[in-house]
Amino acid sequence: MAIKFYPETKTFFLDGKNMTYAFRINDADFAEHCHFGSPIGHDDLSFCKMAGATSMAASVPGDNGSPMKSYGYYPPEITFYGTGDFREPTVQIETPDGARLCQLLYAGYDILAEKPAIKGMPSMRGGETLVLHLKDPYIDFGADLYYTVYDDCSAIARRIVYINGTNDTVVLHRAYSFAFSLHNRDYKVMSLYGQWAGERSIQETPAQYGVISVDSKLTSSSAILNPFIGLIANDACETHGDAYGVNLIYSSSFVLKAQGLSDDRILVTGGINDFDFRWTLEAGEEFETPEALMVYSNEGVGGMSRQFHDAMREHLINQKYVKACRPLVINNWEGTYFNFTTDKLKEIASASAGLGIDTFVLDDGWFGKRDDDWSGLGDWVVNEKKLVGGLDAVIEHVNSLGMKFGLWFEPEMVNEDSDLFRAHPDYAIGAPMSSGRPRCYGRHQYVLDLTRKDVRDYIVESVNKILHNHHIEYVKWDYNRAVTESCSEQLPPHRQMEFAHRYALGLYDIFDRIVLANPDVFFEGCSSGGARFDGAVLAYFPQIWTSDCSDAERRTEIQYGTSIVYPQSAMSAHVSAVPNHQTGRVTCIETRAAIAGLCATGYELDMTSLTDEEREKIKAFNEEYRNNMEELVLTGDLYRSENPQKSNFFAETLVSKDKSHAVLTFYRRIRYANSPLKHIRPAGLDPNKTYKVKETGLVAKGSTLMSLGYPLILPGSDFATIKYHYDEVK
Ligand code: GLA
Repeated sequence: MAIKFYPETKTFFLDGKNMTYAFRINDADFAEHCHFGSPIGHDDLSFCKMAGATSMAASVPGDNGSPMKSYGYYPPEITFYGTGDFREPTVQIETPDGARLCQLLYAGYDILAEKPAIKGMPSMRGGETLVLHLKDPYIDFGADLYYTVYDDCSAIARRIVYINGTNDTVVLHRAYSFAFSLHNRDYKVMSLYGQWAGERSIQETPAQYGVISVDSKLTSSSAILNPFIGLIANDACETHGDAYGVNLIYSSSFVLKAQGLSDDRILVTGGINDFDFRWTLEAGEEFETPEALMVYSNEGVGGMSRQFHDAMREHLINQKYVKACRPLVINNWEGTYFNFTTDKLKEIASASAGLGIDTFVLDDGWFGKRDDDWSGLGDWVVNEKKLVGGLDAVIEHVNSLGMKFGLWFEPEMVNEDSDLFRAHPDYAIGAPMSSGRPRCYGRHQYVLDLTRKDVRDYIVESVNKILHNHHIEYVKWDYNRAVTESCSEQLPPHRQMEFAHRYALGLYDIFDRIVLANPDVFFEGCSSGGARFDGAVLAYFPQIWTSDCSDAERRTEIQYGTSIVYPQSAMSAHVSAVPNHQTGRVTCIETRAAIAGLCATGYELDMTSLTDEEREKIKAFNEEYRNNMEELVLTGDLYRSENPQKSNFFAETLVSKDKSHAVLTFYRRIRYANSPLKHIRPAGLDPNKTYKVKETGLVAKGSTLMSLGYPLILPGSDFATIKYHYDEVK
């Protein structure tokens, strides 16, 4: 059994794959965290309780005789404010008398064979689940803490439901999803920061006394900081040591915190960002928080990533598509931008046929009055003046070539110059019209108010109409600006601070009614590249356009950083033209294909301008991708061995789960004259299996290949790539 409770010691043990999570109910009825890490025995863990308290400790309310009893000193499963705990609270409430006090103490538990889904929010599927019931002894306010463990990954999914059982209104000032603590402060805090066209760089900061906070205030998860926080032991590295990761499955403003405490522990907590948040819970209402996916590995940062990848592939990403062969696309965006005609699109499709490309994706510019990014968003009606013969003329041509047709939408947006805005200016988010304040633009557009049902209905109907009336098998769903004025004309004043979370709920509602309602359409997520790359989007969209920077050189860093949390199959990457449109850099087509071929792949250039030689190469790349790479991208394990964010090289080995196949992709940024000899070493092979290296004919044990490697003989100049294929010899 994965979850076990021992009544004598009041201890819960949750055993996942290679991992135990344990906590106990102590003599103050507090849920005291004991362990998250390597598997441990089901022993009495009371010996690890707090050894002492300082004179400034506040005792448990009402207990004047036990200085050792203080909520502020117990390692927590949840922290609450106003009763002696000065750490970051997981929850803060306000009752009608103005008090902000609560004590959430043990009130029972349930063990469920299957995890119930969260109402209105995406979450991990399945898994045995513990529900720990906590209640305030003086008012009928409680918290149900959900814990789910899995036997196929070292992961635990956590969330909290806050329950107002009182006859009055309770206001939530803060309602995080989880808390736990690590036993000492010997950790680095890892986060992924970035910007447009430069997403998910790795940042590591020594854990400190006080709070390190990773957050978004954008009403989206954002490219600025990803909803991820890592705690990496100081003696850990990419391949060894303790590494913990928390990923919040949430697409709106979030916060994740690591607080170094004076007792040398680190408190980790977070959830919905409580900045600009206040939620009114009427009598009898509950509040569901988004789920946090927490993983552990003693195989360093690489092991942590592989646990995230397995957990997401097995339990989060749409099962129908997660391991299925992906569309190999030609997207016209960088090939034409807005400047296309029906004939031009047909020519690009024709030029792509026969090369192994199976899907043609028509990007922005096909609808409304959309010849640039100043107008048209919101009007999901085909622009037949531009697309002579309508959408069907293009679709029929694409289909006649044996290819599928895909289409771009940006459903959450509206331009001022659009029929939608002219008819319904109030649909757009902005300062209240009565205030006279001008609204903020972003890419000349506004975000639609998804907290409103009528707005969501408009989006669902207009997008579904296009999907139902045309033979569309792929959708790219974009989102190109952040919410600035976080308010809705339709929410009462006391609920305005509910906006950012209500936007997320509205977003999931339209995902349900468009994405899930069209199960045969393959949906790709996008947000000015990768500005909304998160677990909630991945629950609906099996892949996300990783970055608007399509330069292979920069992509090594972006893809490396993204892989810290997200699987290769979740990243979409295209071969684009040179000089690259974002950086002006020229890289050879082999490197562009090799780097894009580590993800769900495709092309994004004017295929009509290729030479015959390039066309032959593209055909060969696609064969290599389908035959040797795709299975590894979809189901394999990733072993990173050269970090381009720190070195002149980038190296990743993708290894099949049974370790019978592997491909090492090695990339050199700058070629130095007479540079020191560099050895290339694959990683993740089975040391005891014998492999044949396709490129050299060498037959050797995995242990030999991984230890000795090969001296780098890489012809060409800068930005060159070499690949090695390993196949088990029986
Ligand atoms: C965003 C996307 C691009 C492209 C454009 C179209 O920037 O990230 O891939 O779709 O929008 O306007």
